[in-house]
Amino acid sequence: MSQPSLGMGLLVVLALAGAAQAASIKPWLCPPKQFDSVAGFDLAKFISAPWYVQKQTVLKYQPASSLFCVRAKYLPIDAKNLTKGVRVCNYANTGAVNKAPVGTCLAQAGVAAPAGKGPSFEMVALPWPVRRSNPDTAASKLLVGPTFQLAGKTPDDLAKPPAPGQPRAAGPYWVVAVGPSKTPALGYDWAIITGGAPSQATENDACLPSLKNDDGFWLFSRVPVAPKAQLDAMLAAATALRLDTAALVPVTQAGCTYAGAA
Ligand SMILES: *[C@@H]1O[C@H](CO)[C@@H](O)[C@H](O)[C@H]1NC(C)=O
Repeated sequence: MSQPSLGMGLLVVLALAGAAQAASIKPWLCPPKQFDSVAGFDLAKFISAPWYVQKQTVLKYQPASSLFCVRAKYLPIDAKNLTKGVRVCNYANTGAVNKAPVGTCLAQAGVAAPAGKGPSFEMVALPWPVRRSNPDTAASKLLVGPTFQLAGKTPDDLAKPPAPGQPRAAGPYWVVAVGPSKTPALGYDWAIITGGAPSQATENDACLPSLKNDDGFWLFSRVPVAPKAQLDAMLAAATALRLDTAALVPVTQAGCTYAGAA
């Protein structure tokens, strides 16, 4: 065999290897068959204290430039009846720690609303309709959207896929793993949140929610900077759920004062 044809053979082998690489996304893996949110969930405990995001996917409404001091606090609309929903108070700094707060529930703290959103831009989370879930896991699923978009709609309307071409009024928020807390009132020391079942296969043979739809994936801790063992536990739990942790980027929390957060 002459040198040139050996070279050609090698090129063909490389081209085939490349094709195999490109074809290595396995859509049938996602969402994983048994994937669901957690059973026996206690929303009252979950919302009893703020959550600090340790790592998350980059989203349109949470770009990389705003991944400083990311914090979520949920305020019941009616503390005696959580089925009325909870106000979603998201907080972050833009550009650097303790700079330019953005999020929801900022107006009451005297912080200007993000440009273009108006002072009344608020978010709410409503309970997921039990009839659209395994009843054991319905409590750990929420529907989150801007308050004005949810007005007059039932959770059942909101959980239905939108008509073609219609934007969704609310997005799925599922608590898919939790770490129990030694403090009974807190219930949980960490939590993994996904925007519904992760339907997108990745090149790592793992799954992600539809980032195109702004359905994210977050690692939450009760403390601003999670101890390494806790972060490792979250990453292991996410991997066990076949979530692609390679898509997560770290959120800076050290030195944050959360000025203006709810
Ligand atoms: C709680 O709120 C829901 C939704 O508004 C309502 O349907 C239900 O009757 C309320 N339950 C109680 C005990 O007030």
